[in-house]
Amino acid sequence: MTTRRKFLKLSALSASLFAFNKTKATETISNLNSKQIKPVVLSTWKHGVQANEGAWKVLSAGGSALDAVEKGVMVTEDDFTNLSVGLGGLPDRDGFVTLDASIMDEKGRCAGVAFLQRIKHPVCVARMIMEKTQHVLMVGSGAQKFALDNGFKLEPKTLSPEAEKQYKEWLKKSEYKPMINIENHDTIGMIAIDANGNLSGSCTTSGLAYKMHGRVGDSPIIGAGMYVDNEVGAACATGVGETVLRICGSYLVVEFMRQGLSPNEACKKAVERLVAKNPNYKDVQVGFLALNKRGEHGAFALQKGFNYALYSNEINNKLFDSKSFLS
Ligand code: GLY
Repeated sequence: MTTRRKFLKLSALSASLFAFNKTKATETISNLNSKQIKPVVLSTWKHGVQANEGAWKVLSAGGSALDAVEKGVMVTEDDFTNLSVGLGGLPDRDGFVTLDASIMDEKGRCAGVAFLQRIKHPVCVARMIMEKTQHVLMVGSGAQKFALDNGFKLEPKTLSPEAEKQYKEWLKKSEYKPMINIENHDTIGMIAIDANGNLSGSCTTSGLAYKMHGRVGDSPIIGAGMYVDNEVGAACATGVGETVLRICGSYLVVEFMRQGLSPNEACKKAVERLVAKNPNYKDVQVGFLALNKRGEHGAFALQKGFNYALYSNEINNKLFDSKSFLS
């Protein structure tokens, strides 16, 4: 066969394969859209139970998924005894609590805030960036100034009593090692679908304990710590942010759902991807949550020990253990 004929034959084959995949993807999305939707919210770790209560107040009253995911994680940010979210979190190695958060809605509007200090609700700052500016990411002193200019209060610099105690202990050796399932809780990531079938997500954290000053994790980065595509589904991540950032973790989970995988399968495939890309995968923990347009959810983690809280009309805010790659 001449080269030209071979080329034409290959082009025809690729075109029909493309058409097949496109039809399959379109069918998958329309199947998802045709089912009856009920409100559902899920969030990472045990602290997700209290956070879900806050979100469910909004969802059960017919409110939007966007309001629910904001109000939900604000409960966790408010808890000064929480060592991994909000101003009570463990500090960086120089003794500063620096916060990261993000939010995304059904219209694809989104924003993140990173390296934010002395502001109680970074998730609300992220929402304000999303709604009041043309930007998607603000950091550090600029983000703090934006928050203060828009009515947020500058909180005291003091660590929570427990964070201070643990930091003083850590200073004795100053050995940095990310801990697996730190305190058995970490970032709070929350994803929800409302009665109208709209999806939203949020994510907020004080980041890895004793990180380098200036380090930013996955939580404020759209597509890493959290991602929403209202045609397909939403996902969020928890664990060592660097590992999630390297594979655009939450975006990847949503793209796997777009290809037709269930939320569980999508989370599992994303974990398999990070295992394949990370020779040190045994030393870190990462967990994903996913929710599709039908309101079906899934979870999968790298290591044992990851759990999540789920609230729906059928499930009254229960904690579930996630399956994991390593047992
Ligand atoms: N997943 C939170 C962080 O790595 O900062």
